[in-house]
Amino acid sequence: MVFFRSLSALSRLRSRSAQQSSLGTSVRWLQMESSSDLDLRSQLKEMIPEQQDRLKKLKAEHGKVQLGNITTDMVLGGMRGMIGLLWETSLLDPDEGIRFRGLSIPECQKLLPAAKPGGEPLPEGLLWLLLTGKVPNKAHVDALSAELRDRAQVPDKLYKFIDGLDVTAHPMTQLSAGVMFLQVQSEFQKAYENGIHKSKYWETTYEDSLNLIARLPALAAYIYRRIYKEGQSIPMHDSLDYGGNFAHMLGFDNPKMHELMRLYVTIHSDHEGGNVSAHTAHLVASALSDPYLSFAAALNGLAGPLHGLANQEVLLWIKSVVDECGENVSTEQLKEYIWRTLNSGKVVPGYGHGVLRQTDPRYTCQREFALKHLPDDPLFQLVSKLYEVVPPILTELGKVKNPWPNVDAHSGVLLNHFGLTEARYYTVLFGVSRSIEYARS
Ligand SMILES: CC(C)(COP(=O)(O)OP(=O)(O)OC[C@H]1O[C@@H](n2cnc3c(N)ncnc32)[C@H](O)[C@@H]1OP(=O)(O)O)[C@@H](O)C(=O)NCCC(=O)NCCS
Repeated sequence: MVFFRSLSALSRLRSRSAQQSSLGTSVRWLQMESSSDLDLRSQLKEMIPEQQDRLKKLKAEHGKVQLGNITTDMVLGGMRGMIGLLWETSLLDPDEGIRFRGLSIPECQKLLPAAKPGGEPLPEGLLWLLLTGKVPNKAHVDALSAELRDRAQVPDKLYKFIDGLDVTAHPMTQLSAGVMFLQVQSEFQKAYENGIHKSKYWETTYEDSLNLIARLPALAAYIYRRIYKEGQSIPMHDSLDYGGNFAHMLGFDNPKMHELMRLYVTIHSDHEGGNVSAHTAHLVASALSDPYLSFAAALNGLAGPLHGLANQEVLLWIKSVVDECGENVSTEQLKEYIWRTLNSGKVVPGYGHGVLRQTDPRYTCQREFALKHLPDDPLFQLVSKLYEVVPPILTELGKVKNPWPNVDAHSGVLLNHFGLTEARYYTVLFGVSRSIEYARS
């Protein structure tokens, strides 16, 4: 089966806060894979020479095409609104939100294989989609799940290394350090030292990327159990998928939590290239630093409170509202609390965005998950109330370009509901999810 999407190669040349390009759109094809298709590596082996030719052609035919004018504001804003990067896996529209290879989040939920009929998409399917531009079938995704499990073994030395870090070190610091520890396993670095031809770079990059994606949940879960569960780690399950296994190793075996983790990893995997961590990953990788080095650098950017750490900040802020005003906080109390936050020189976490100008569809799909699975949760109800109260206040401030909620405004209350209550850990979940995109750097 074949279906149609529109995006041109040039219109995907975008930067951090790129607006809709005036270059117009052309044609892109998304194919549904049939079960007889090749495995992921073999597919890439076929596709990569074509893509390399495509890039050469793009340079030759459009190399001199101008992509816009640069203003002082754009420079002061850190490349804001400039078309500055080639980013093929996803496109962030200010009004519509993210599309992965042309597919919106609801389309991914509909088309990507799930663990059970009607369930949330499996992140392995999204990985396949991002790398190939094709929608995999269940057999492909199951094979990729198995491959990731086969690659997931980490050396015991890694755990000893993590144990050597101060247990109070932020979980993101422990994650980033753990990734650097694993860097000695880089196949790319070894191949480069042995003088590999540049046309073959992708092969060892692929190995490193899949190994890193596969090994991160074990590392991340170890950090969680070390800090919060007295070091009682849980081995990987021998048949669960990526998201389910991650939840399992963290210590959560409620099937709804497995579904949440699948959705969580899928929607946090990629958000075009201009955000701090994505840009960092690609910048570092452009020096031919291997995927471990570039991913660790990306994690350090994700750990900032205006970026990935906002998910931690949101739950802590929501809990501070409850501590002060109780769960049944009135609208007036909420307004007063928000103004107090703003007047003390802080941001309202989970609201605003560098590119988006509407409610983030990643927020919306999490809200739908909550309506389905936890409609009576008091913190979910508070999140819903905030949706009514925060945007008018941010609008009244007069300077906030986007008063609507982003992905981080919602994720914490879902995790909290299923028992993952430690907000300080949340950015690690975001980091593991982003490996699906960044590891391709
Ligand atoms: C995401 C964010 C960093 C984008 O920043 P940006 O692109 O500079 O946003 P804007 O252009 O709208 O910022 C204009 C002004 O509004 C402020 N602003 C933006 N969002 C705000 C928020 N949620 N609360 C309070 N003030 C906010 C900015 O701090 C800036 O103020 P300044 O001129 O005094 O420096 C910003 O919206 C923010 O800090 N949000 C809260 C943190 C968050 O949720 N981060 C996760 C993003 S996915």
